[in-house]
Parts: sequence; structure tokens; C-alpha cells
Amino acid sequence: MKEKLTAIQAQAEQAIAAAESLADLEEIRLRFLGKKGELTSLLRQMGSLPPEERPVVGKLANEVRDALETALARAHQDLAREEQERKLAREKVDISLPGRKPLRGAVHPLNHVRRRIEDIFLGMGYTIEEGPEIESDYYNFVALNLPRHHPARDMQDTFYIDEETVLRTHTSPVQVRTMEKMCPAPLKMICPGKVYRKDDDATHSPMFFQIEGLVIDKGITLADLKGTLLLFAREMFGPQQQIRLRPSYFPFTEPSAEVDILCTACNGKGCRMCADTGWLEILGAGMVHPRVLEMSGYDSSQVSGFAFGMGIDRVAMLLYGITDIRYLYQNDLRTLKQFPGGLA
Ligand code: DAH
Repeated sequence: MKEKLTAIQAQAEQAIAAAESLADLEEIRLRFLGKKGELTSLLRQMGSLPPEERPVVGKLANEVRDALETALARAHQDLAREEQERKLAREKVDISLPGRKPLRGAVHPLNHVRRRIEDIFLGMGYTIEEGPEIESDYYNFVALNLPRHHPARDMQDTFYIDEETVLRTHTSPVQVRTMEKMCPAPLKMICPGKVYRKDDDATHSPMFFQIEGLVIDKGITLADLKGTLLLFAREMFGPQQQIRLRPSYFPFTEPSAEVDILCTACNGKGCRMCADTGWLEILGAGMVHPRVLEMSGYDSSQVSGFAFGMGIDRVAMLLYGITDIRYLYQNDLRTLKQFPGGLA
């Protein structure tokens, strides 16, 4: 019996040493110490021993069980740690891998410039108005003092939808719509939006953006227009900016002017960009023609107004030194990324 016990101990210890997993260990435990295990079965036979041998064998059996339990516990600890380490290694996250950059949308340079212009005029108390891009001949032309067959209609190459309907060639019709809506109250509005012309080259796109401005009140003068535009030019292009007004012609204003700022490339010295003049044209403006006021219901003997219209594309091109307007519409990310408000 003693030999058998020692043999079981040796066998069990060998098996424990060879165990490779916790599952192996459990199997070994059952095989030797379980209810039907080898050690347990052997102990059951104790009854057949002579009484004087029982204490000795019993003691030895207990020692063997203790030894095996201890060995099992130690092996359990070792294997559990190994398994844990394997698991951690398997699930390891490589934090040195560069992350995937999420693609982030951004504001198109044209919208960025539009918002800056809007902010400047909002700061001066202007409201922002809107009007339709498919416009009637009346709002686009007639009400702006451009009756049918007026030669100045040729200033703008128009997309006609039918006899009475056009794609608006400028944002000026929104002047008329706003005057009709507000009359006889004073008003101060801007209107940004898309406009369309049959034009397509490096500086003209068939669709482009304008911002219209209109102020009507008692006693508005050309000085108000000049002051407003100077303030705008300085906010937009820098505190040293200057403007100059050149006499011009628009049917809806009298007098009319084309407005220049100091060349953004040479600061007035003269360069290729400004054709050596030192100035760059940025907008058209003037005092609202009395006939335009009257057609929209205002009494031109009581109120006066000024108006201006500028190309957002042109402002963006001057600000960023873009030489071809088509860059703004090709949606090439390599181009767009280069501008503030462009893709990060
Ligand atoms: N509507 C003109 C154009 O598109 C621009 C313009 C000129 C607007 C003078 C105005 C203005 O309001 O007063 O060419």
C-alpha cells in the first residue's frame, strides 16, 4: 500500500509538471484526487489493512494528498499567469500605430469670404435678404430702370428661360423685392447669392456669386456710400486700405461709380496685377436712381439711397491671389486646402 501511495505521488507529480493548461490540471486533479480518483480509491481500501498499519498508511496518505494539492495549486498559479500573459499578448493594442485621420469637411473659400463680408455688414446693422435665382424680366431689368430694348441690357449676357423669365444676371433684383416689402420704411440690406451670365473665361464663370447692398432713408448721400465702402474695404483688406470712386454708368444708379481699392499685390505702387495703375476694381455702386425708388413705391422727394454690388469671387481672388476663377469651381481638394476656411 505504501509503495502504491508513493507511486501515485510520483505519477501525479510527473503529470502536474507536464500539464500545459488549466484544463490539463483539472483533469489531473480528478484523476488522482477526485471522488473516483486513484488516491481516493486507494484510501477506500484502508479498511482491509491490519489495524496497526492504518495510522501509518493514513498519515502517509494525508501527506501525499497535501503534497499533491500544494503542487496542483502552485501549477495552477503558474499556468493561470501564463494563460493571462498569452491572452494579453493576443489582445495587445499597438498604440504606436498612427491613427486613421477622419476626413473633415470645411468651408469653401467662397463661402468663407461671403461670411466675412456678411459679418462686416451685419455689424453695421444691415439685414440679409434673399431672392430667387430664376427671376422675372421685370425684377431683373424693368424695375431697375432697364426697360425692354434698353441698350444697357447688353452689359449682361443673359440666359433666358422664356420671354419673361431669366436666370438672374445680378443680385440687384433683390433690391427691388426688398423695397416692395419694406416700403415706406427705411431699409439697410445686403443680399448674397448666385448669379448667371453667358460668360466663361479665366475671370468669368457662367455662375458666380455677388453681394448686393442697399440703404434707403431720409437724407442718404454719396458721402454715406463712400464712408460705408471705406469701412468695408478696411475691415476686409486691412486697416491701411483706401478706396477711390471713378464715374461710371449703371441704369439703376445716378450718379454711378466703379470703386477701386489699393492693389492687394503691390499696395498701390503699380504691378502686373493692377496693370501698373496701383488700383483694383472691386465693385459697382451709386445713388439709387429716383425712377427706381418710385417704381418700388418710395417717394424720391422724401428719401434717397445708395446701392452697391460686388463679386464675391473677385474679392476671394484678390484676397488669395487666385488668377483663374475656375479654380474656385473645380472642387480640387489640393486647391481648396490652401485657403483659410479650406480643408484642414
Ligand atoms: N448689378 C451690377 C452688376 O452686376 C452691379 C451693381 C452696380 C450693383 C451698381 C449695384 C450698383 O447695386 O449700385 O454689374
